[in-house]
Amino acid sequence: MSDEEKPSLGMQRQLEIYLRGAQGSKPAFPISIEDLEEKARQALSPEAYAYLAGGAGGEDTMRANREAFRRWRIVPRLLRDVAQRDSSVEILGQRLPAPLLLAPIGVQEILHPEAELAVARSSAELGIPFVLSTVSSRTIEQVAEAMGPAPRWFQLYWSRSNELTASLVKRAEQAGYGAIMVTLDTSLLAWRERDVQHAYLPFIHGQGLANYWSDPVFRAMLPEPPEQNPMAAIQRFAQIFSNPSQTWNDLQFLKDQTQLPILLKGILSADDAAHGVDSGADGIIVSNHGGRQVDGAVAALDALPGVLERVGSQTTVLFDSGIRRGSDLFKAVALGARAVLLGRPYAYGLAAGGSEGVRDVLLNFLADVELTLGLAGCRSFSEVQPDRLVRG
Ligand code: FNR
Repeated sequence: MSDEEKPSLGMQRQLEIYLRGAQGSKPAFPISIEDLEEKARQALSPEAYAYLAGGAGGEDTMRANREAFRRWRIVPRLLRDVAQRDSSVEILGQRLPAPLLLAPIGVQEILHPEAELAVARSSAELGIPFVLSTVSSRTIEQVAEAMGPAPRWFQLYWSRSNELTASLVKRAEQAGYGAIMVTLDTSLLAWRERDVQHAYLPFIHGQGLANYWSDPVFRAMLPEPPEQNPMAAIQRFAQIFSNPSQTWNDLQFLKDQTQLPILLKGILSADDAAHGVDSGADGIIVSNHGGRQVDGAVAALDALPGVLERVGSQTTVLFDSGIRRGSDLFKAVALGARAVLLGRPYAYGLAAGGSEGVRDVLLNFLADVELTLGLAGCRSFSEVQPDRLVRG
């Protein structure tokens, strides 16, 4: 078979599944994200499922995130020779197989016993960068070891203690993480009705605190080591986790701590995006935290065009909140995002089947992305421009 006739990644994935089907075997995990979510629900405790699937207040922002995608429609273009397709893109100087990263999702031990290590292995295998949360269940160093040379970034929750923040950033830098993604929308924990109803917050059970427990600066703040007195450590964590008094001027402190690029996650207004660029940030993530912070917030996709108009020519703009399928990625990129972060879908895969579940979600998602690209009449993401969308 010549290069030209070699089936693309998307076609290969389809073929593999259909050929196995001809021998009587069905896909191991549900293909539709909605069915996969249901499978995850069955695998999880009611508290863990609620923590994963739920959002702030009446979950109006979560609904708005999805509705915003439906209001944009793709206009496929035909007869454009899309036999050769390339879904790769360059982000911050690094070539990625697709405009895709894995969003930081904390406390993965409540989803699967292998937690972040399962996600790390699958993302490393496919070369899709994993953004590790500060509140992870495995340490910065453990995840780095599981990933080898594969690309990874570190998501920072900026603590009330500057010394601790500096220590976390240094650890990430030393462990080979390629960027710091600082989340700005979590200066306070939101009112999440499902979690309040369950009276359940994983951190209070000591879950998701591996990076604190293992940090020399954090340990020095405690009367006794966390292994001996976990309650004191949990209380200390709760006191210093976030800092609602920070302002744009404080970003300089972070910049002084590291040579790594710094990206700001949680931006929803063009003015804030401009503040970020003026403060020297290397990138912006337009996101409303998957509707987990402000109920009634603007849909992240609706915030994207305004942010791009203001800072799109000056900085790298990424996107998350509501990405479920290849067409969602296509729409966000057509509007101008350089890449998107996949959130809950891979976590549903983790809950349903550990590393294998995550791998399947990613392979299916990549196949969908690549087929959508070609069927829309594009050979690469550089051809995915706003004129491929109309308001529906
Ligand atoms: C998150 N998200 C998140 N973000 C972050 O910066 N640090 C974190 O530790 C977490 N933790 C977390 C846990 C859970 C259970 C969820 C669902 C989400 C937000 C995440 O990075 C991303 O912004 C959203 O998941 C995007 O929304 P969708 O597409 O998953 O709905």
